[in-house]
Amino acid sequence: MEQYIIKGGSPLVGEVEIGGAKNAALAILAAAIMTDETVTIDNLPDVNDINVMLEAIDGIGASVQRLDRHTVKINGSGVADFSIDYDFIKKIRASYYLLGALLGKYNKAEVALPGGCNIGSRPIDQHLKGFRALGAEVDIEHGKIVAEAEVLRGTHLYFDVVTVGATINVMMAAAMADGLTIMENVAKEPHVVDVANFLNSMGANIKGAGTDIIKIRGVKSLHKSEYSIIPDQIEAGTFMFAAAATKGDVTVTNVIPKHLEATVAKLTDIGCEVEEFDDAVRVVAKGRLRSTQVKTLPYPGYPTDMQPQIGVCLALCSGTSTITESIFENRFKYLDELARMGANIKVEGNSATIEGVEKFSGARVSAPDLRAGAALCIAGLATDGITIVDDIVYIQRGYERFEEKLRGIGGIIERVSSEKDIQKFKLKVG
Ligand code: UD1
Repeated sequence: MEQYIIKGGSPLVGEVEIGGAKNAALAILAAAIMTDETVTIDNLPDVNDINVMLEAIDGIGASVQRLDRHTVKINGSGVADFSIDYDFIKKIRASYYLLGALLGKYNKAEVALPGGCNIGSRPIDQHLKGFRALGAEVDIEHGKIVAEAEVLRGTHLYFDVVTVGATINVMMAAAMADGLTIMENVAKEPHVVDVANFLNSMGANIKGAGTDIIKIRGVKSLHKSEYSIIPDQIEAGTFMFAAAATKGDVTVTNVIPKHLEATVAKLTDIGCEVEEFDDAVRVVAKGRLRSTQVKTLPYPGYPTDMQPQIGVCLALCSGTSTITESIFENRFKYLDELARMGANIKVEGNSATIEGVEKFSGARVSAPDLRAGAALCIAGLATDGITIVDDIVYIQRGYERFEEKLRGIGGIIERVSSEKDIQKFKLKVG
């Protein structure tokens, strides 16, 4: 088991280049099997979740050729198996995007039903409701979702909750259905738009992605495409809050500033200076930052995936802050770890009240999930002394070369796997 060991206490300073959006890439890779022609996808993040998705696609018969770390060629003409095992779903929930992709292309799919995960129970009723509305018969059999249709037909559908996953999954299934599908109350996240743009680049006819209503006119077939994935707004935001927490000066490059507006608004609220460029954002934090209130909401609201990162900063701000988590019920687990570093936090239901402290003290903590793990690393970087973060396998699922990128802006962080490595690090940093 690997850990991160961190010697914090100095400001992070410099430039960090942001990779492609993991959550867009997962859906785009699934959608890539919807044509028999070859699709080239660029700006792919080289993270574990993406590699698992590529394995799943390879496993059903698609050809997957990695041209380099960030580029892959996929040809779905060989897909002969419409079934995705529990092994994949256990590793990444997003392999359920193959349900929409396979159903859309082959009118048939079997994908293991995902369970809950560390951040919440995560039902998928809206995905199934959408597939059924398109005319598919959907059953749960022996832990699998079995979906099948003679023909998929366009439909008019209202989602009961705003969900990224169901919006994307049903959009893929509808891309080749007969006639017009109108989906209302859809998610507007940048990666929903990116998946729609990708499908359109393959010849789909999807309009309105990024608004509350998406209209999909089904096409007979999809064709080859070359596509570059949008930058990862969550990776960018993570480094922006790392700048804030360490009182640093960090510029994130290769970003779309528009996607970062909610994050920038909160950084400004707590007293950071933020400068926006065409494809970069600079965050400068001087002196003690101040408290604020934050509530997670679907895009363009403040993202739930950025909740732990701001939580760490607020725990160091002056005054009392509150966080309301309105998307996932179990997203405060990291606060117990943060309390072990000296944070003063009270959680009641989906709200956390945070009394800012002057500083944390280094401790051994565990990453409860991907974003919370990254946030605990930020806490370590903002802390005099040594912090060890366990269970970093979560962080590796979604952040490419995380420790290298942090070292590039002055972070003292190493990946270790034994007590001996830990002692060596301690001797080195003094
Ligand atoms: C995606 C992101 C995740 C992010 C989340 C919210 C991926 C791979 N993951 O997850 O990182 O935190 O969006 O921005 O892109 N819900 C239902 N029924 C459904 C589906 C969802 O009730 O059928 C609920 C969920 O429990 C949750 C809310 O809707 O409370 C939003 O979930 P959703 O947007 O679907 O999240 P994911 O797509 O799973």
